[in-house]
Amino acid sequence: MNSPEILKLFLQSFFLVLCFPFQGFSAETDTITSSLSIKDPDSIVSRGQLFKLGFFTPDNTRHRYLGVFYSVSEKTVIWVANRDRPLTDSSGTVTISRDGNLVLINGKNETVWSTNVVTSSPMNAAAQIQDNGNLVLRDVSTGNIIWDCFSHPSNVFLPAMRIIDDTNTGNKVIVSAWKNESDPEVGSFTAGLQALNIPQIFSWHNGSPHWRSGPWNGQILIGVQDMYLPYLDPFSVVNQSGTFYFTAPQGKVLMNIVLNSSGNLQQRLWDNQKKSWDIIWVAPQNECDVYGKCGPFGSCNQQDSPICSCLTGFEPVDKDEWSRGNWTSGCSRRTQTQCDRNDDTGSDGGDRDGFLRLQFMKVPDFPEQFPSSVEDECRIRCLRNCSCIAYAHEPNIGCMFWSERLIDVQKFPGVGVDLHIRLAASELDKHKDKKVIIIIATVVAFVSISICVFIAWCWMAKKRGDRTKDQETSEQRQTFSSDSTAIVLKDESEKVNLEELPLFTFETLSNATNQFDEDNMLGKGGFGPVYKGKLANGKEIAVKRLSAASGQGMEEFMNEVIVISKLQHRNLVRLLGCCVDKEEKMLVYEYMPNKSLDVCLFDPSHPSQKILDWKKRFSIMGGIGRGLLYLHRDSRLRIIHRDLKPSNVLLDGDWNPKISDFGMARIFGGNQDQANTARVVGTYGYMAPEYAMEGRFSEKSDVYSFGVLMLEIISGKKNTHYYNQEWSLSLLGCAWKLWNEDNGMTFVDQMIASSNFQREIVRCIHIALLCVQEFPENRPAIQTVLSMLSREIMDLPLPEQPVFAEKWNRFHVGSTQPTSGIRYSINELTVTVLDGR
Ligand SMILES: *[C@@H]1O[C@H](CO)[C@@H](O)[C@H](O)[C@H]1NC(C)=O
Ligand SMILES: *[C@@H]1O[C@H](CO)[C@@H](O)[C@H](O)[C@H]1NC(C)=O
Ligand SMILES: *[C@@H]1O[C@H](CO)[C@@H](O)[C@H](O)[C@H]1NC(C)=O
Ligand SMILES: *[C@@H]1O[C@H](CO)[C@@H](O)[C@H](O)[C@H]1NC(C)=O
Ligand SMILES: *[C@@H]1O[C@H](CO)[C@@H](O)[C@H](O)[C@H]1NC(C)=O
Ligand SMILES: *[C@@H]1O[C@H](CO)[C@@H](O)[C@H](O)[C@H]1NC(C)=O
Repeated sequence: MNSPEILKLFLQSFFLVLCFPFQGFSAETDTITSSLSIKDPDSIVSRGQLFKLGFFTPDNTRHRYLGVFYSVSEKTVIWVANRDRPLTDSSGTVTISRDGNLVLINGKNETVWSTNVVTSSPMNAAAQIQDNGNLVLRDVSTGNIIWDCFSHPSNVFLPAMRIIDDTNTGNKVIVSAWKNESDPEVGSFTAGLQALNIPQIFSWHNGSPHWRSGPWNGQILIGVQDMYLPYLDPFSVVNQSGTFYFTAPQGKVLMNIVLNSSGNLQQRLWDNQKKSWDIIWVAPQNECDVYGKCGPFGSCNQQDSPICSCLTGFEPVDKDEWSRGNWTSGCSRRTQTQCDRNDDTGSDGGDRDGFLRLQFMKVPDFPEQFPSSVEDECRIRCLRNCSCIAYAHEPNIGCMFWSERLIDVQKFPGVGVDLHIRLAASELDKHKDKKVIIIIATVVAFVSISICVFIAWCWMAKKRGDRTKDQETSEQRQTFSSDSTAIVLKDESEKVNLEELPLFTFETLSNATNQFDEDNMLGKGGFGPVYKGKLANGKEIAVKRLSAASGQGMEEFMNEVIVISKLQHRNLVRLLGCCVDKEEKMLVYEYMPNKSLDVCLFDPSHPSQKILDWKKRFSIMGGIGRGLLYLHRDSRLRIIHRDLKPSNVLLDGDWNPKISDFGMARIFGGNQDQANTARVVGTYGYMAPEYAMEGRFSEKSDVYSFGVLMLEIISGKKNTHYYNQEWSLSLLGCAWKLWNEDNGMTFVDQMIASSNFQREIVRCIHIALLCVQEFPENRPAIQTVLSMLSREIMDLPLPEQPVFAEKWNRFHVGSTQPTSGIRYSINELTVTVLDGR
């Protein structure tokens, strides 16, 4: 052996010692048996090194507790044995007692804690800490589990745990918060599942509701705003013949939900780079989330001030308290309904009751379910039954009815369900009257302003000696620039010449769409409905009417006008004009007879499914790519779209794709390559990781979205609604897995799978996987992607595993676990350095 090799060996073992400093001191076992007990400060470690059972001391105290915690973060305790009986010194021992229970014994040989079950063969009991965090007591002779800590949770919910509500036996498994951060004793907050009627998650404060998730609709909890952003939501509520449980797939080990001592549920995800937990969700999030904040028949809106108001047709029970901000007593009905009158007087009153629709609501507590796919049926049933005071229809739940009172109602910004409340006919009329008054007032105001503006304009025109222009247009333009956001216009677009952009009057558009008739509605985006219209000259148009309540504010509107008015490309939708009229903001586009890609791809009833063969799909991908290239490179401006997704790709009569919706696009200055934004806008599932997490965006974030789009076009499945239960994988994860296993065709839409283009299809999956890589610098630029698609570039690099798909699974049981991964790489590095000499 020559000396470098000896040195190498020496260094290797040196590093081994460095990296495993405690090896040999702590027992590398995952099991406690009657012959093998552990004594403070020893611990046992699960087989994959993910969880430990051992002793710990919370902050600000000297008490010792037995608990289960993460190996990567020993401070993160997920379960405590002796919650209410701390050890005062470090003399604790954990062992299996004579009767077969797992017990904790103190220095005085007293049993401080025990699993307290009756075991049939005490000699064969063994306790094991598992890689999912569960501590199980097993009868080794039969293999049966006689006790497990997941059935007796502390304050943490882990994937694979079951939060149970058994409607047959009444048995419940709940989590209970610590008293405070230094005392694990059961505190005043608990959380669990309530399966009554429709399953909901609750947290309780001293037994009364503190927060409520809203009903489970089979996919999401409809009262949790964040769940409407379809992301990898791993949760499900399962009904096993009356035993309900809330759970999440086991793969995502480094995720948990903790109920902290101040009553907040926090969902946390381990960040292995930062070595800390990211809090990715909290409930309650704000005051409105607190159960019954506004009392019965009150409605909470976090965006209003004050946040509470009575539902329409209701008034505060105690006006003084209400105006003082004490909303607990809630509201009561202002006008009796026909039902109330019938009950009281027996006469059958004049006008019939009706329902008022409230949009974007968190529905009240105590819903009763009736399965029905037809909304009208809910209405009819509710109207017929006098105890029904409100109804709502949710496609996956069917009808929901409420009687007695409406409590914990909230108005969400742009998500939620429509709630219909029963009102007396006169109240409904009043509501209509109000609308009429508002409309009249608006019209009067508009007319008078128009006249003033017109006079002023005439005067100015005269003075300047300008040619007289079309009266209406100038009126509009005046309204336009007098708007409060004119500043935005000024600094973002010195070069914009709005004169080039035709302005339509409200009247023209209203006539073209038949007064915005529902029948002409093409679709409904987050920002408001889109109508089909026909101008007087016969030209077909699409009108996007931004609802006043929508999230798209003036800023996005102007952005879209500015951006798109400067762009001309066959793969970008053309803006024909706009209309700004008081509250109304509308954009007029060319009409696309084949609607959006979203409809064509994912709506199984849509006839286009058959038309979209592989060739069409391929040319659609190419078209979108060229549109993107134009945005990134070829247009005078450099533009990042930031919200590329199927619903923003429209198809013309010849199935040419056109990118639309530039409300979020961002114009880049000359050599700026990357920007940060405090305001992350976009759609989950299509946003690149660096953008979604850190708000950094660049052309490469559009490339990421393009990759997701390609995979959707190939698979015919929507990324955001796709989740493979068997593998716990998202659409990207599945694509990666199947492509890696040379099984790419399994991933492909049945409609095109049998075609003769299998190699081309698999190649496209490969290209898409290159686009969705974690690090922006690894993703190809859009022109490279196009060259790959057109086969100008034949040799494709190997893609890295997409991160969103695998973030959860990276520390999956059985795969390389984090600590050993780090150890290994240190070793490897050393060796490489030495070999270099
Ligand atoms: C501890 O108590 C058990 C019975 O509870 C007894 O069998 C055992 O011998 C005691 N051990 C010591 C060290 O005192
Ligand atoms: C936690 O609660 C215990 C009593 O339950 C109290 O003695 C202790 O001071 C509290 N600690 C903190 C940090 O509030
Ligand atoms: C749960 O399942 C049982 C039997 O499988 C069924 O009778 C019951 O209606 C279900 N409950 C709900 C709310 O779906
Ligand atoms: C509980 O969680 C909320 C929300 O994240 C946080 O504001 C609060 O400080 C936490 N309380 C404790 C005691 O950690
Ligand atoms: C709020 O009002 C109710 C009655 O309307 C009263 O009983 C309660 O004491 C009030 N609470 C506060 C904090 O003032
Ligand atoms: C009317 O509604 C109440 C409450 O929703 C329900 O208990 C009752 O069975 C209904 N009556 C009829 C006749 O449907």
